[in-house]
Amino acid sequence: MEQRLKELETLAIEQVEQAQDLKALNEVRVAYLGKKGPITEILKGMGKLSAEERPKMGALANVVRGNVAEKIEAKQAELEKAEVAKKLASETIDVTLPGRPAPTGNPHPLTKVIEEIEDLFLGMGYTITEGPEVETDYYNFEALNLPKDHPARDMQDSFYITDEILLRTQTSPVQARTMEANQEKGPIKIICPGKVYRRDDDDATHSHQFTQIEGLVIDENISMSDLKGTLETFAKKMFGEDREIRLRPSFFPFTEPSVEIDVTCAKCGGKGCSMCKGTGWIEILGAGMVHPRVLEMSGYDPKKYQGFAFGMGPERIAMLRYGIDDIRHFYTNDQRFVKQFNRV
Ligand code: DAH
Repeated sequence: MEQRLKELETLAIEQVEQAQDLKALNEVRVAYLGKKGPITEILKGMGKLSAEERPKMGALANVVRGNVAEKIEAKQAELEKAEVAKKLASETIDVTLPGRPAPTGNPHPLTKVIEEIEDLFLGMGYTITEGPEVETDYYNFEALNLPKDHPARDMQDSFYITDEILLRTQTSPVQARTMEANQEKGPIKIICPGKVYRRDDDDATHSHQFTQIEGLVIDENISMSDLKGTLETFAKKMFGEDREIRLRPSFFPFTEPSVEIDVTCAKCGGKGCSMCKGTGWIEILGAGMVHPRVLEMSGYDPKKYQGFAFGMGPERIAMLRYGIDDIRHFYTNDQRFVKQFNRV
């Protein structure tokens, strides 16, 4: 019996040593120390032993049991430690590895130009005002001195929704709305950026939807020289201090007199080249002194107040600034185009 116990001990310890994981170790524990295990079996047969041998064998069996249990415990601690180490190793983060850069977007070139123009006018004391894109015929045309049958309406082919409602063709209706809403009928100094819509076929220079920035200044003693000074400052800030502007007579129903403003060509500096079609000048915006009828319709007394107004297309400004040759680039959102303006 003593021999058998010693053998069992050696066998059990050998198997404990071989256990690869906690599960295998537990199987060894159940096999040797469990109720149906061989050591228990041996202890059950002790009745057959002499009274002298019984306590000796009992003590030995307990020692064997204790030794095996001790080995199991030690092995268990070792395996648990190894398991933790393995888990830690698999979850290691190498903080010295460079990160993977997340793709970042950048503002659209049109947004940048619009914000730059806004900043410029904000710096000159203007306020930014907005108006609806779905507009009434009244504000888009009539209040701007364009009655229903006015031939100048043909200059702006419109998307009508009903007879009286349309997608605004210009940001000028915000002028009429602002003047009308001003209870005191006092001074106004605003710019109005926004989207406009026209029934044009899209090509390199036309788009059925584009943006405009409107400007309006109303006060006492406003003259054409205020208009010129303001827009000269704008042109120089936008295109360069060495640029000149010129005012060319034009026609808009809501201004009298009306002008178009040209800036000296950036490419040839005014000598004449293919970009300015040999003239040395490039048109950048329309402007004029607010028509007395427009003031009157919005409740202003044209004898007391005068004003100047202007309207420009940020697409055109951006195209001239960056040499963009097709207006459609602004709307197709090709990242190869948009990304080029990351740092300008
Ligand atoms: N609304 C005009 C257009 O779309 C641009 C314009 C010209 C606006 C002269 C003005 C202005 O306020 O005074 O063609």
